Amino acid sequence: MCGIIGYTGDGRRQAAPILLRGLERLEYRGYDSAGLAIQTDRGLVTRKLAGRVGGLRSSVERLPLPGACGIAHTRWATHGAPTTCNAHPHVDCDERFALVHNGIIENADVLRAALERAGHTFRTETDTETLVHLIEDSPGDTLEVRVISALEHVVGTYGIAVMSADEPGKIVVARQGSPVLLGIGDDEYFVASDASAILEHTRSVVHLDDGDIAVLTTDGYHVIDRESHVQLREVNDVTWDLEAIELNGYAHFMQKEIAEQPETVRSTLRGRLMFEEGLARLNGLNLSPEDCAAIQHITIVGCGTSWHAGLVGRHIIEALAQIPVSVEYASEYRYRRQVTRPGTLVVAISQSGETADTLEAMRAARAAGSRVVGLVNVVGSTIAREADGGIYLHAGPEIGVASTKAFTSQIVALALLGLYLSSHHGLPLAERQELARRLSQLPGLVARTLELEPQVRVLAEHFAQAPNALYLGRGVNFPVALEGALKLKEISYIHAEGYPAAEMKHGPIALIDANMPVVFVAPADEVYSKVVSNMQEVRARGGRIIAITPEGNGDLGTLADHQLRIPATAPLLSSILSVIPLQLLAYHVAVLRGCDVDRPRNLAKSVTVE
Ligand code: F6R
Repeated sequence: MCGIIGYTGDGRRQAAPILLRGLERLEYRGYDSAGLAIQTDRGLVTRKLAGRVGGLRSSVERLPLPGACGIAHTRWATHGAPTTCNAHPHVDCDERFALVHNGIIENADVLRAALERAGHTFRTETDTETLVHLIEDSPGDTLEVRVISALEHVVGTYGIAVMSADEPGKIVVARQGSPVLLGIGDDEYFVASDASAILEHTRSVVHLDDGDIAVLTTDGYHVIDRESHVQLREVNDVTWDLEAIELNGYAHFMQKEIAEQPETVRSTLRGRLMFEEGLARLNGLNLSPEDCAAIQHITIVGCGTSWHAGLVGRHIIEALAQIPVSVEYASEYRYRRQVTRPGTLVVAISQSGETADTLEAMRAARAAGSRVVGLVNVVGSTIAREADGGIYLHAGPEIGVASTKAFTSQIVALALLGLYLSSHHGLPLAERQELARRLSQLPGLVARTLELEPQVRVLAEHFAQAPNALYLGRGVNFPVALEGALKLKEISYIHAEGYPAAEMKHGPIALIDANMPVVFVAPADEVYSKVVSNMQEVRARGGRIIAITPEGNGDLGTLADHQLRIPATAPLLSSILSVIPLQLLAYHVAVLRGCDVDRPRNLAKSVTVE
């Protein structure tokens, strides 16, 4: 969703270039409009534009905005069209306050009506504008006192940064349900939606909790609660390098992140496999052997790609640990009546650790008495901090809006979880040792799978103009079919569906003709022969078949128009390899269609609103 950044310094540096660079780093969170406000000699000056940050940069380069304190925003529209007028920052009637916001103000209509009755003039259609008029309307000698007082009336989620023309060099930040962190530099302070925006200036960050108010000035910062009591918040070090958020010669972040998977899979595994014992070392889970033995049921919650990883995880955990697993869309789970059985472990999967529905599902599960663990990539994110324990993916920052390397690392983390639980639920030692060995081979096998890229690029040319595509798989590879279809539709805008292969006969087969590419994921497992029968059914109706199948499996050349051979691995782990050609296919089709791969239309990374 939206990205916010703010900067205040001692005057050695100008704010605008820092803010613009930060916005470019945050653009993956939203990219329909951008704006900034700077404290200048003439008071607060805002500049905003519909469209990408590049437009705003050109405008500021043409007509600079000098000043050492400012706030900026890149938007993913919720209330009001993505116009220049609706872009942030928003200002009050007299332009004494400027504010940027990520989140949704749920009672904006009621607040707006009351404020208009009190004489405030609104300029935009946004929910955010109510906040800045509320601050204008609120009593207080300092900006933070006004902000605290204004927020008493607000229902909804927000990460905000606010400035006042009367208090030069000061930025007040507040957090409720939307991510925001502080960056601590030398005589300069930052606020940002995530660390990528400020990493070139500082590695020291402070994660804020819900309810926190932070006050940044050129002399320092402090965090207070709604009663103005000072709160102590840890300063953490960001562990990854700037290189992780640079393209480094790749055309797109998605392409880079697909290519990084041998290393990211290795990172997820690093130090966690115990080969002799056939176990996984997962101290962060905070589950004692007694806790593990007591687990009767696992519920996995997540959204989108993370939900697909959960579906793969169900197969793996049930096979290894013999514990029944259900997988739920977080958005559905959170609003259902919670019927929690004793011994339920809830696993919340989220790359960003900030997805609103997953966070709320996790809170609902906790409130109903379940123990909750998180499988999260972003260190220090809200889900990671609120969970009772967890497994970090260590996949490094994922910038491409379409999730790729997080998916494979999520499956690896779920396999580690399965292995961890398996010994408490009776899986024989030899099988556990074999799985640990197979897991350790994955980085090399992922690297070999990536060698298919030239073949996939040629294949993409055949299918780039197809209006629809069908993805079919069974068992542990059915979620791969869903994921392949999701990747294609979100970045190339080709309509694609994923189905369990046998379900095809119950409806989708009606769609098949010579114009319909059908992607089969056909690993060497107990349902391979069934998948081959499904292929024959498609072939008989003239469908064009692309088969993803392991080396050593039967030759599908007579059935399939195109065959992509992936390395063989344990069937339970095959989805980690079989998804890679599908990620590459979506990527190359999107590039051939001229789509903006890293910023697909209407999407944004990290869905922090419901
Ligand atoms: C698809 C994609 C989304 C996310 C979903 C959950 O490529 O990226 O479907 O997987 O929004 O996000 P996280 O994992 O951050 O909770």
